[in-house]
Amino acid sequence: MDSLGRAYKATIIGASGGIGGALADTLETDPNCAVLVRLSRKETGFDLGDEVTIQRAAAAIRDAHGDMDLVFDATGALEIDGIGPEKSLRAIDPAVMARQFAVNAIGPALILKHFTALMPRGRRAILATLSARVGSIGDNRLGGWISYRAAKAALNQIVKTASIEIARTHPQAIVVALHPGTVATSLTVPFRHGEATPPEEAARQLICVLDSLQVPSTGGFFAYDGQAIEW
Ligand SMILES: NC(=O)c1ccc[n+]([C@@H]2O[C@H](COP(=O)([O-])OP(=O)(O)OC[C@H]3O[C@@H](n4cnc5c(N)ncnc54)[C@H](OP(=O)(O)O)[C@@H]3O)[C@@H](O)[C@H]2O)c1
Repeated sequence: MDSLGRAYKATIIGASGGIGGALADTLETDPNCAVLVRLSRKETGFDLGDEVTIQRAAAAIRDAHGDMDLVFDATGALEIDGIGPEKSLRAIDPAVMARQFAVNAIGPALILKHFTALMPRGRRAILATLSARVGSIGDNRLGGWISYRAAKAALNQIVKTASIEIARTHPQAIVVALHPGTVATSLTVPFRHGEATPPEEAARQLICVLDSLQVPSTGGFFAYDGQAIEW
């Protein structure tokens, strides 16, 4: 990354995932990156469903490294506990829908709650989270996947609302939701029909988008090619 200067510090949340792992590997080889922290459920016990683990992770990073120039939340799920997205209204199950919201909206909201304290106030800082284009209400042409779509739409609202509050104390902060494109990870295996971007390329594209964003873009929703996506 170029926009965070030399010796920036970064945390990747969901580093066990396809995109999160590629992001962490890419930043690890970046000569400008001085500190890279990888958080994941498997390796560090970071669980979106357990706020204490999120709070503890943020506190441990602050103790070990101080503030973080980049926090990238690459968590999320399309299939949860073996249950994939619904194809029709008839398939709505309240418990499944609640789990979708827990992972794709409430978990990232808790990340914003606890990780904002790690953002430096007097210089550029980025907090990015992976949303999905299917969370766009304006762009919804196909229907289906109602719980995942709705949870990502909620995430977009959470990011936008948080960005307004964070801007008051962190005037140089960039808080954004990103769509990574269709990426070849375990998340897309059951649903992929055409081409998918390799995770390494998706990671490079997302880093490039973050480098290009300026303060007026905080609170926005951007695709891997830098284009803003309608809400
Ligand atoms: N791949 C795509 O084409 C695509 C397209 C649009 C949007 N996205 C979004 O991009 C994000 C990453 O997707 P991906 O393709 O990299 O998926 P992935 O390979 O399945 O990675 C998902 C990551 O989220 C973590 N996670 C899931 N539930 C969690 C929980 N309860 N607590 C803590 N961590 C949890 C996983 O941890 P574990 O390893 O512990 O399960 C993993 O690190 C998701 O938000 C997804 O919606 C992906």
